Amino acid sequence: MSKPLQTVDQATVAELSGRFEPIGTEIDTADLSVEGELPRDLVGAYLRNGPNPRFAPLGSYTYPLEGDAMIHGLWLEGGRARYANRWVRTRGMAAEQRAGRALFGGLLTPAFVDMELLGPDPDPGWPFRLDPFIHVVRHAGRYLALAEGPPPYEITAELATVGRYDFAGAIPGMCAHPKIDPVTGEMVLFRYDVEEPYLTWAVVGAGGVVTRPPTPVEGVDRGYMIHDFAITEHFVVLVIGPGVIDVDAMLGGGDALKWQPELGTRIAVINRDGTGRPRWIETEAFWVWHFANAYETGEGIDRRIVVDFPWWSALGFAVKGTVPVTGCFARATIDPERGRFDLDRVEERGTEFPRVDDRLVGRPHRHVTVVGSSRRAELVRGEHDQLVRYDMGSGTCQVFDCRAVVGEVVFAPREGATEELDGYYLAFVTSLDADRSARFMIWDATQFPEPPIAEVSIPQRVPNGLHGNWFPPR
Ligand SMILES: [Fe+2]
Repeated sequence: MSKPLQTVDQATVAELSGRFEPIGTEIDTADLSVEGELPRDLVGAYLRNGPNPRFAPLGSYTYPLEGDAMIHGLWLEGGRARYANRWVRTRGMAAEQRAGRALFGGLLTPAFVDMELLGPDPDPGWPFRLDPFIHVVRHAGRYLALAEGPPPYEITAELATVGRYDFAGAIPGMCAHPKIDPVTGEMVLFRYDVEEPYLTWAVVGAGGVVTRPPTPVEGVDRGYMIHDFAITEHFVVLVIGPGVIDVDAMLGGGDALKWQPELGTRIAVINRDGTGRPRWIETEAFWVWHFANAYETGEGIDRRIVVDFPWWSALGFAVKGTVPVTGCFARATIDPERGRFDLDRVEERGTEFPRVDDRLVGRPHRHVTVVGSSRRAELVRGEHDQLVRYDMGSGTCQVFDCRAVVGEVVFAPREGATEELDGYYLAFVTSLDADRSARFMIWDATQFPEPPIAEVSIPQRVPNGLHGNWFPPR
């Protein structure tokens, strides 16, 4: 760290070029051109987050773990569509804008920034920037852009930054994948850390007040990277794969994450009412980035927890190509009383961004969407071009080939709908040609895998990003 860090040449980094290349403009456009017809019974906003560095990164850039947050929004109403995009203006980004350049180093090349340049009350996380580019949710009327670790940033429905939001000091940091219980309105969240307590969980009530302050999970003895989790009606399910964080190595320029399969993967089942101690289930090492959903079946000692998710044999970027990483879509059945974990491999292929109808979070679902890959030559690592839907009832799968790169697909119920498939699938896609033009696709979920019923042209590029949500009017 004695040598000044060099600016990263973006053209040499796959995740800073091509369809990942950050954009430098913020626009507002209305009455976008539409191929097909926008459904009249779909009113609201689709917001999608992702990393979009404002300045060329210093030293290194690790996707998808760093970058300024940019949210792309697509609003639908009255058969018309409008689009806007905005950065989330964090304190770290404001400091870099004042300086006119990147100040922080990348995660692999931390730079000890002059605190004077950061201004008063800088964001937690220094010497790293842990920015809210991963997800965006709405809870208790607040739109929150989410990072992994620090508190979120509140934004408005029109994407203006309000400021850092820590629930009146009650939640000093959180994960990027909180779960909102559709029945109780509670938001359940967790946070891992590199120091004690290494793992906590907490609950924010439907009204936005913290009802369970961060509560340590007993039995966690070091810092593990944990990206997502699951809830059911009565349980919090935390799956702890052996991706161990090594801060000393990180600060010394070594590997920040170590894959330690000898530790196995451990699953904590915690009572949401806070009673008792976590029940731990130990199994062979595997990795999960994202869960589709979980729910309970049976009663008493026959109670089981069903969890659907893309299963990975290892944490890819921690094993650095020394071990081949394989993936499948899986259903796990957990028996918390007997400490059993059974895995059913539903389909042998790697997929990601699993979603269900959000009205069913923690409750039984039948259908799961993921994005998959046709393996066409134009795709680079981290890109997908297929929308895949699993019917977990029949064990079958349907595929739509987008012939373009597709991001996370979100289900939006039709106004007034109650059935699981009565609505639309929504996603941004980017063309495979040199234009890298962006469209917003809308599929009728009842007709899937028929082609989209409408495609909205977006008048600027929408770089590959991460997670989003559909927000109907309140
Ligand atoms: Fe994620």
